[in-house]
Amino acid sequence: PASDPDLVERARHAKAALGDSVFVLGHHYQRDEVIQFADVTGDSFKLARQAAARPDAPYIVFCGVHFMAESADILTGDDQRVILPDLAAGCSMADMARIDQVEDAWDALTDAGVAEVTVPVTYMNSSADIKAFCGRNGGVVCTSSNAARALRWAYERHGSDTKVLFLPDQHLGRNTAVRDLGLALDDCVVYGPRRRSGGLSDDDLASARMVLWQGHCSVHGRFSAESVADVRERVPGVTVMVHPECTHEVVLAADRVGSTEAIITTVAEAPAGTAWAIGTELNLVQRLAAEHPDKGVMFLDRTVCFCSTMNRIDLPHLVWALESLVEGTVVNQIRVDDDTAHWARVALDRMLALPG
Ligand code: 13P
Ligand code: SF4
Repeated sequence: PASDPDLVERARHAKAALGDSVFVLGHHYQRDEVIQFADVTGDSFKLARQAAARPDAPYIVFCGVHFMAESADILTGDDQRVILPDLAAGCSMADMARIDQVEDAWDALTDAGVAEVTVPVTYMNSSADIKAFCGRNGGVVCTSSNAARALRWAYERHGSDTKVLFLPDQHLGRNTAVRDLGLALDDCVVYGPRRRSGGLSDDDLASARMVLWQGHCSVHGRFSAESVADVRERVPGVTVMVHPECTHEVVLAADRVGSTEAIITTVAEAPAGTAWAIGTELNLVQRLAAEHPDKGVMFLDRTVCFCSTMNRIDLPHLVWALESLVEGTVVNQIRVDDDTAHWARVALDRMLALPG
């Protein structure tokens, strides 16, 4: 639906009044009505790098989800304040790994006699305390656009016997290990509180090269190998490109795999007349289709698939956050405590320093 013109005008007005004191970042999954006000748009890697691009802006309004705003707080100066327009914009995948559960898992790996060669690697989609856990334990953060480089770094830095504890997205971990690093599916085991009680033995853990946390994205989990077969039948010649949070089966069935930024670039560079079925969040796919009317860009599945928490950032919330700033009030500030921020930054800086 079209955005409320009154709210659009108010957002424009507030942003103009704030001038350079506000820097608005927008993730590709944000609604059109919100993304039009972003100074920078990107995938989570690009936004992590961009967060610190405007050190003179005292306010950073992050149109994305909670873990992204936390990372922006960690990566920016003490005098910059990060605002998430709706505090309910979380990420169900990030919520699947709590720090106490991860510490228990780490202890179990120690009990299995493998902790001295285990390194934690966490996907950006995790809480700041899990990133800090990785920082303290020789690990690194990764995003969907550099997961292969992060895993190579982990194995090279810690030696060929290294085991990686990959948090929290089992699919990104498995897809990257198998597609990019050439590990066998059997080299990966899934660890989670329920799975552990379901009989994952110390021997299983000890022989694995990748211990995958039992997390997933419910949005990307809705795509199936049948959706890929279905679109191939309906649209002969279509190229299927999916996000690496999709299941391994879907990734195997697809033609291309990439982060949101990679999907956008690939479609932009494709010749006119080509057809693309995209397996990622719907706001992004709809925008891509509108921006490239000369190409057939379609959603991979027949059902609607928004990320409900990304969608919580809507124009009324953005207007409220901006107008509050104009009035001198900071609402919904995201603040990570100093110790957590220090160690999370160690892991984030390792990611930002990855070669290539
Ligand atoms: P990107 O790293 O591609 O931005 O993906 C983030 C995300 O939340 C995907 O679900
Ligand atoms: Fe989290 Fe999935 Fe939404 Fe991305 S799409 S923010 S992983 S719930």
